[in-house]
Amino acid sequence: MSEEQFKNVISHAKEYGFVFQSSEIYDGLSAVYDYGQNGVELKKNIREYWWKSMVQLHDNIVGVDAAIFMDPKVWKASGHVDGFSDPMIDNKDSKKRYRADVLIEDYQEKYRVKNQKEITKAKKRFGDSFDEAQFVATNPNIARNNAKIAEIDQRLSDGLESGELHKVKELIEDLGIACPVSGSKNWTDVRQFNLMYSTQMSATDGESQIYLRPETAQGIFVNYLNIQKTGRMKLPFGIAQTGKAFRNEIVARQFIMRMKEFEQMEMQFFVQPGTEMKWYDYWKAHRLKWHQNLGIDSEKYRYHDHVKLAHYANAAVDIEYDFPFGFKEVEGIHSRTDFDLKQHEAFTGKKLRYFDNESNESYVPYVVETSIGLDRMFLVLMSNALQNEDLGEGKSRTVLRLPAALAPYQCAILPVVKKDGLPELSQKIMNTLKLDFNCYYEEKDSIGKRYRRQDAIGTPICITVDHESLEDGAVTIRFRDSMEQKRVAIDELEGIISKEVSIKALLQGLVN
Ligand code: GAP
Repeated sequence: MSEEQFKNVISHAKEYGFVFQSSEIYDGLSAVYDYGQNGVELKKNIREYWWKSMVQLHDNIVGVDAAIFMDPKVWKASGHVDGFSDPMIDNKDSKKRYRADVLIEDYQEKYRVKNQKEITKAKKRFGDSFDEAQFVATNPNIARNNAKIAEIDQRLSDGLESGELHKVKELIEDLGIACPVSGSKNWTDVRQFNLMYSTQMSATDGESQIYLRPETAQGIFVNYLNIQKTGRMKLPFGIAQTGKAFRNEIVARQFIMRMKEFEQMEMQFFVQPGTEMKWYDYWKAHRLKWHQNLGIDSEKYRYHDHVKLAHYANAAVDIEYDFPFGFKEVEGIHSRTDFDLKQHEAFTGKKLRYFDNESNESYVPYVVETSIGLDRMFLVLMSNALQNEDLGEGKSRTVLRLPAALAPYQCAILPVVKKDGLPELSQKIMNTLKLDFNCYYEEKDSIGKRYRRQDAIGTPICITVDHESLEDGAVTIRFRDSMEQKRVAIDELEGIISKEVSIKALLQGLVN
């Protein structure tokens, strides 16, 4: 998908009521978005697919809904107060603040664009006989550009990992990076800025600083013992949660990819120490299967193993999707050891142990975490589904080929005319079907226009009610993807739609 197509995704999302900029009538709040009438349905269905795949399909996984506000000491224990930050730099002339690493990565991108130009030129020159892999491996210009990218990578990670941020500033100066707004190279030093939002909570003894959670995971850790005891859970077992998280992302980029307020779907799987790699491998495979089960081309996904691990992890991998701006993380699977529970033990003085009846010992469980951003998954589905289809004879249509079970509406009911008793019969059909499905009712405009509107929001089935329907008790159903139409009895509708759009069929793909 090109940059141009991605712009189409963003404008389609707005035009068809999926995603709006927050507070748009006040000129918009940067990196904050609202989900419109269709977006909220798609988001709910993705969440449901995730929840059912975790909680309903695994008898050893239960859910929790922890509060966003937590005791501020939680974030001290988890390491977020001291370590959850981004390196920022200000331009003294424009007064704009940037993420130092992003400025550098954007600079590196120029070399990637140069490489791409070399490839496009060579493709034109060699035509069908062009071997891209061989060209990339042997072309001296590409080799030079790649060496430059690697050298910058090395200097950047040296500066960040050692905490010697003056090295990052030196790199920006050596590369001659200028402020995109003022064009000047008049930079401040690079400093770490914490990503957590804080606010004040009033109490009888005054006010205290409290944070908006930057991840949902800690709400699971602090409830580990409550749930293990009251649910009589035996290891291995998991706790799943979906909910909002907040991060003060200074750089607003790529639409709903990087937001200040977003939603996570996280599951912490508690296991016996020593078995964590087995479970890490299980979840790594199972989570990719969850993605591929949505019918997305498997080439669009890849694993990205972390080479440098966070201090609490002994293995970590990202599941990445091929966005128009390259492969980017959608989900992370982390083997978090016993770090979080042990930290909460140390900060509270409470034992967060598990008594193992079999080995007759008690220990702090290890944890394997799966963590996916709901908004990023939404973007994956929208980017993958939106197509402009050439229908021949100068005709085309815009169609959103969402997985049928996740589409905002499962069916649309369309009387051909709004008279002669057709709206009444349509409403009768609607009243039965709406008990099982989210149905769209529309009687305005030509049938062709109404089909196009349903295609554009991804409705898998349209039901057309015509004059004959009054006589023969049958309607025409039209399938979004094939545009095939067939005549079926009204009594058969429920069965046909169920088969086409049920989440059961999706879940089936995960248990086989
Ligand atoms: N508990 C682990 C954790 O929070 P993370 O890699 O920081 O790990 C997990 O976040 C997922 O949350 C990411 O893979 C991404 O999908 C999503 N995510 C993180 N920051 C985000 C942001 N600013 N906007 C949208 N989604 C975000």
